[in-house]
Amino acid sequence: MRYLITGGCGSIGSELARQLVARGDEVVIIDNLSGGSLQNIADIADQVECCIADVCDPNHRLLRALIGSSNAVFHLAASLGVKLILEKPIETMHNNVEGTRLVLDAASHTRCPVLVASTSEVYGLSTRVPFCEDDPIVLGASSRRRWSYANSKLHDEFMALAYMQERGVPSIVTRYFNCTGRQQSSRYGMVVPTFISQALAGRPITVHGDGTQTRCFSDVRDTVQATIRLMDAEAFGQVVNVGSQNEITIGDLARLVKQRTGSASIIQHIPYSEAYSEGYEDMPRRVPSLDKLQRFTGFVSSTPIAEIIDRTARWMESQLSAESLLNVA
Ligand SMILES: NC(=O)c1ccc[n+]([C@@H]2O[C@H](COP(=O)([O-])OP(=O)(O)OC[C@H]3O[C@@H](n4cnc5c(N)ncnc54)[C@H](O)[C@@H]3O)[C@@H](O)[C@H]2O)c1
Repeated sequence: MRYLITGGCGSIGSELARQLVARGDEVVIIDNLSGGSLQNIADIADQVECCIADVCDPNHRLLRALIGSSNAVFHLAASLGVKLILEKPIETMHNNVEGTRLVLDAASHTRCPVLVASTSEVYGLSTRVPFCEDDPIVLGASSRRRWSYANSKLHDEFMALAYMQERGVPSIVTRYFNCTGRQQSSRYGMVVPTFISQALAGRPITVHGDGTQTRCFSDVRDTVQATIRLMDAEAFGQVVNVGSQNEITIGDLARLVKQRTGSASIIQHIPYSEAYSEGYEDMPRRVPSLDKLQRFTGFVSSTPIAEIIDRTARWMESQLSAESLLNVA
């Protein structure tokens, strides 16, 4: 099979490329390197075709040609990360909504299956845990910028399902819950790589708020395995949570990162108003129901959080030593 991965140089996309290549599939990547890097696919560079291009390019010929020659598309390219969303809400909304529309439109010419990456952020301020895919959604007010990301992704979900209904594009929506691991950048405020880079540098590990908010983290290898299985199962027309139920408070996560990295960093609490802006809203808990994922794939994410931290820390250390070698050279 030949798969197109948009955003294939990113954290999830590069691992997806790796796993597809390992089982003998052909992989083509399109990525504009705005968030990802060629370094992420360096180990498989001679086994994948990589186009450095933008899915939102108004000249859609490349995208159409790539989709026309693929058996299915994993559409992962997006703007994400709380920091980026707060700083560049227009870019986030445009990139996420227009990129998905163009991918679905191009796919409609050959009725090519598309998996669209969405997010647990779409559950918004809901407190009904575990979150089920068909639950009502409680989105925050439009005056709160952070919700622009969730809103853009929710729009993508509606589009994916609408293109299936009206244009016959077999589509699947995955709602990812805090996926982490190698290749995830701390640049945009993702919590695990941020804590690890602070711990490795001996700087304070900065917990936003009182640290009692919880998240469920899954390893990128598990996330990708679930993603591939959903495509293989042809779960078309479905919106499916992808994540783990390993719930941990952010305060405990900071302590675990400190312990696993052997860091002397202090743990410092920063009010949300200082970290982001006045009136910033966060969800107290974010736990997925995984019943649907299990029904379609039989898959359960199993990597313990300590192992995720260890692998990510090892990868970040290797990046740091490669950088310092370059600086010396
Ligand atoms: N990692 C998570 O925890 C998580 C959680 C929820 C949802 N998601 C979704 O999963 C997908 C992948 O996330 P990730 O963690 O791998 O992010 P990432 O930033 O590592 O990867 C995204 C990739 O898309 C590329 N990209 C962005 N805009 C593009 C464009 N217009 N044209 C071409 N390439 C473009 C970036 O350069 C980057 O390589 C995203 O759609 C994201 O919204 C991820």
